This record gives sequence, structure tokens and C-alpha cells, in this order.
Amino acid sequence: MDNGKAKLAIIMAGLPARGKSYLSLRLHRYLEWQGYRARIFNVGAYRRESLGPPSSKSDFFDPKEPVFARERERIAKRCFSDLAEWLGGAGDIAIYDATNVTASRRAYLEKECGKHGFEHVFVENVCDDPEIIEKIIRIKLEHSADYAGFAPEAARADFARRLGHYEGVYEPVSDVAHMKIINFGLSVVRAYGDERPFLDEIADFLGAVNLMDKEVFLTRHGETYFNCEDRIGGDSPLTKRGAGYAGRLAAHFKGRDLVVFTSAKRRTIETAAFFDCERVVLPELNEINSGLCDGLSYAEIAEGRPEVNEARSNDKFNFRYPGGESYRDLIQRVKKSVIRIEAEKRDVLVIAHRAVNRCLVSYFIPTPPEEVPYIEMPLDRIIRVYRLNAHYGCDWKVI
Ligand code: F6P
Repeated sequence: MDNGKAKLAIIMAGLPARGKSYLSLRLHRYLEWQGYRARIFNVGAYRRESLGPPSSKSDFFDPKEPVFARERERIAKRCFSDLAEWLGGAGDIAIYDATNVTASRRAYLEKECGKHGFEHVFVENVCDDPEIIEKIIRIKLEHSADYAGFAPEAARADFARRLGHYEGVYEPVSDVAHMKIINFGLSVVRAYGDERPFLDEIADFLGAVNLMDKEVFLTRHGETYFNCEDRIGGDSPLTKRGAGYAGRLAAHFKGRDLVVFTSAKRRTIETAAFFDCERVVLPELNEINSGLCDGLSYAEIAEGRPEVNEARSNDKFNFRYPGGESYRDLIQRVKKSVIRIEAEKRDVLVIAHRAVNRCLVSYFIPTPPEEVPYIEMPLDRIIRVYRLNAHYGCDWKVI
């Protein structure tokens, strides 16, 4: 694990309706996709489970009610103790999703992390853009279990009271190692010390995520001469049929507010040639590096390098071509483009390659690693990935 093998606790902070759960879920997906054992510990879910619907009303969050305040602390501590047990055992990265708006709560969490030897960082979501806040509130009132059964106006009024209670005790994070995600990526403050590349990556990712309901499309390049000969890798141009696909593809997307990402290979750039929107070349989208097998056909590999065939069929996800890459390696390369896709506010079309697109699909649709190299990815098809569940933005569907 390139986070230095440490056990890492990522501790969210911020007022209600700042998008903490949304960012937690997106980050969880990003980490799990890379093979980390990651888990979210959501204090709200513990509260609902332990105390049921009465704990959803705003009174429960009134800081002047000592009985409720004690209950809230008890539940937060129980949730953290489960986190500690899991992170101390099988887990790699735990996300503690709660408001943690007071310095005293954060001091407690720091002390606990120290006791267990966990690396930790606080992530505060700061948001003062009324449009973003309104969007999150709408999502929350519509989907949160706290407001199931509430009439819409009553839910809104009760939530406003809850927010008021938190605003009364809120102490912005400055006391601990932290990052601040401001207005969903408008800017990111990094205050966790130097030389923390893994935290930089997390900050880059969280700073990229936004609330736009954009769609993401994936396709392979048009047919190439190498495809006709069943050869892998290389930098072959498109055939006539491949160029025909390129023309039809551009016609299909005409008029859409779109950005096109291609790899640096001739075949994807040629496939994007007829688009009149912005086109961006991202070398991290280049096809899996097949090393010494580059340019060979599958039949030539089977005959000349039977050991490659055998090792690939035993464990295609982890198999690394001699002098090249494995699917596992590829995810580490392609993740840069995931951050680009997340950061986009327009719809995105990725024109890439078979193995790369498999890795990208498995980011949007959680897929067991061993199945990733077998995801169907034919030529001449567009995969559309859209948010099914706009409020948390992590259920995606491919058609
Ligand atoms: O054959 C086209 C291609 O994109 C190759 O360049 C690449 O090595 C291969 O597909 C990836 O698919 P698989 O992992 O199934 O061989």
C-alpha cells in the first residue's frame, strides 16, 4: 500500500448540509477501487440504530440539553470504538463521518488515534455558497432516513433548527492536522505538514468532486489494423471502418456540452478527430503496457510465450506483462484521469482502450478485482454511466 502501510483514520468535520457524507462515499469508492480495505463509520447511522426516530428531531441536537448532549457523545464514542477495532484489525483506511464541530470532540478523537497508533487527518467541508447549501439540504430532506415520514415543510423547519444548534457551538477546524474542502473544490486548504503524498492525493480527489449531475461516456477507439490482426498494444492507425465509427461517434454527440478525453495513442486521437468540442490528451489513458508482448498477436503469445498465457489465465488482474503492467498497475495509472473526470462540470466522453475502460468502469460500478479484466468491452459501443442516486452520487449504471 503506497500510503506507507499506516492505518489511516480520515475524520470528517463540518456543519450539517456541507456534503460530508457525499464526499465520504465518493472517497470510499475511490479508495476501495484501488484495493484498500476502506470503511465508513457514520455516527448518524449509529444514532438512528441505537435511539430510533426520536433522535432525528432537532431537540436532540440542542446543546443546552445535557441528557441529549451526553447521549450524542456516547454514540460518537461507540462508533469510534468500532472504527478503532476494525482499523486495528483488518482495515486499512477508516472514514469517520460525523460533524465533529467542537475542538473538544476533535481533541478526544486525536487522543484516541494516538492511543491506537493510527495516522489521521481531519477533513473539514466548508461551504458558504447558498446555492450549494440549498442543493445539499434538498437532497438531505428528500433522502435522509432522519426525515422519512416528515411533511416537507416540517422537515425543512426542523432541519433549520438542527443547523442552528450546530452553528451555536461550531468551532472551525484549526487545532489539528487537517484539510479543508471549500465550496466543493473551489479551493482546498492543506494543513497537515509536508511530505504526505497520500494525503495530497486524497485532497486532490476530494477537491475534484462536485455536485454536478454530469454524465460520463466511455468508448474504445475505432477499429485499427492491429485489431484486424488480433495484435495487442502498438500505435496502429484506424482502418476505414474505424474512421467510419469516428464520424458516427461525433455525429451522435453533436450539440452536447461535452469534453473529450483521449489517450496519447494515435487510434484514440483519430477517433476524436471529428469532434468540435474541447479535446484533451491524457497519456495516463494509454492502453495497458504489454511490455515484451507489445505488438504480438494473441496466437503468437500462445505459441511463443506459453508461460504468459498460463500466468494470465491463472490471475489476469495481478499478472504483470514482462517489462509491462498488470491491471492492478493500470488502476494506479488511470486514477489520475478519474480525478480529471470527477473535476469536470460538463459531460465527459472518454475515448480509450479495452483494458483502460474496464478499469474505469470498475471505478463507477464496484466490481471484484478478479472480474475487472473480463468486463465486456467490445469495439463500436458507447457505455453511458450516470448517477442513479443523485443524492449520494455513488450508484452508477451502465447501459
Ligand atoms: O486487443 C486490444 C487491446 O486493447 C490490447 O492492446 C490490450 O493489450 C488488450 O486489448 C487488453 O485486453 P486483454 O487484457 O483482455 O488482453
